Amino acid sequence: MNSESEQMNNHPSIPVTMPSLAPLEEYVELLRGAWSRGILTHNGPLVQQLERDLCKKLGLSSFVAVSNGTIALQMAIKALGLKGEIITTPFTWIATVSAIKWEGCVPIFCDIDPETLNLDPCNIEPLITDRTCAIMPVHVFGNPCDVQSIEDIATGYGLKVIYDGAHAVGSMYRGRSLLECGDITATSLHATKLLNTAEGGGCITGDFELHERLRRIRFFGHDEARDIVEDGFNGKMTEVHAALGIANLKYYDAVLADRKRKYAIYRDALSGVASIRFQSIRSGEANCSYFPVIFTSESEMSKAEEKLKRHDIHPRRYFYPSVNTFGKIVEYQPAPVSEDITRRILCLPLYYGLTDKDLYRTIDILVS
Ligand SMILES: Cc1ncc(COP(=O)(O)O)c(C=O)c1O
Repeated sequence: MNSESEQMNNHPSIPVTMPSLAPLEEYVELLRGAWSRGILTHNGPLVQQLERDLCKKLGLSSFVAVSNGTIALQMAIKALGLKGEIITTPFTWIATVSAIKWEGCVPIFCDIDPETLNLDPCNIEPLITDRTCAIMPVHVFGNPCDVQSIEDIATGYGLKVIYDGAHAVGSMYRGRSLLECGDITATSLHATKLLNTAEGGGCITGDFELHERLRRIRFFGHDEARDIVEDGFNGKMTEVHAALGIANLKYYDAVLADRKRKYAIYRDALSGVASIRFQSIRSGEANCSYFPVIFTSESEMSKAEEKLKRHDIHPRRYFYPSVNTFGKIVEYQPAPVSEDITRRILCLPLYYGLTDKDLYRTIDILVS
């Protein structure tokens, strides 16, 4: 029998994620059109097609394709003309908070529900002041927030709601796309997301006026007559990125089904492990795009991380650390639940190209 190190060397390295990619020739075919037209950007035909195709596939009322998810968040804040404090979650990627700050607003951290990992609506009201203008929750790992409670609070206090739906393509809420919730949802089409354009993102709103404003903001604030009517910037998606999105969208159903199948395998196999619990998700609605595991302690988490890394398997501490603790960019506001969970959570490898063999190998190492 081979030694442990010899056995390990026979196995490929397993990253936490890999992009889902259409066959290269299908992408190149779309690029040929762009080459022959000589149009690479400025709301070209491929961007328009991607927006149409996404609306059809995901059942969206609108989609404004942009250069990345962070810009989509900033555009949402700009389009709603927000000034003042925005209540958001500390259990997120830094982009949620940097978008708020870049738009001149102040992030106010609302602690999370330890089960769903989403902003806990019960913690919102004590944070509302006369400076509060909006709530910006994140659908963490594609798990829908308590949209109804958040909407009730926002309506009661006259606040806007922007969802950070960076993880939420493919998730549902009460029979419709989760991306349709709130005044605006900003999503990401980054390489690591379920559907990707390498870099990219989009804004979704059911309000026609807001939709038109978002389109103008994306294009330097120009209206159709090329007059500058908004405080805009360059948020445009290129044809090269849109082509990748169109090519990948053909495989979206397969990628989503694959994520759900592998998520279920992980969950079944790991449910007996005493040191692990799972995010509680809205079953049938969450897209299962990540597989986070929450350990009983930081040392249990570190032991598991080291064990996997010894076998060249690379889970990710996501999200870590809690964003309210980034002292160089935000004033510290306590969020004990988020601070606790960020110390002991790991996302396990989950992506379309992950073979069942490598999935089971990851499980075997964790349970051993
Ligand atoms: C929760 C969350 N919000 C926003 C973003 C920013 O998206 P992008 O990388 O497309 O700018 C990310 C990126 O991963 C994210 O995870």
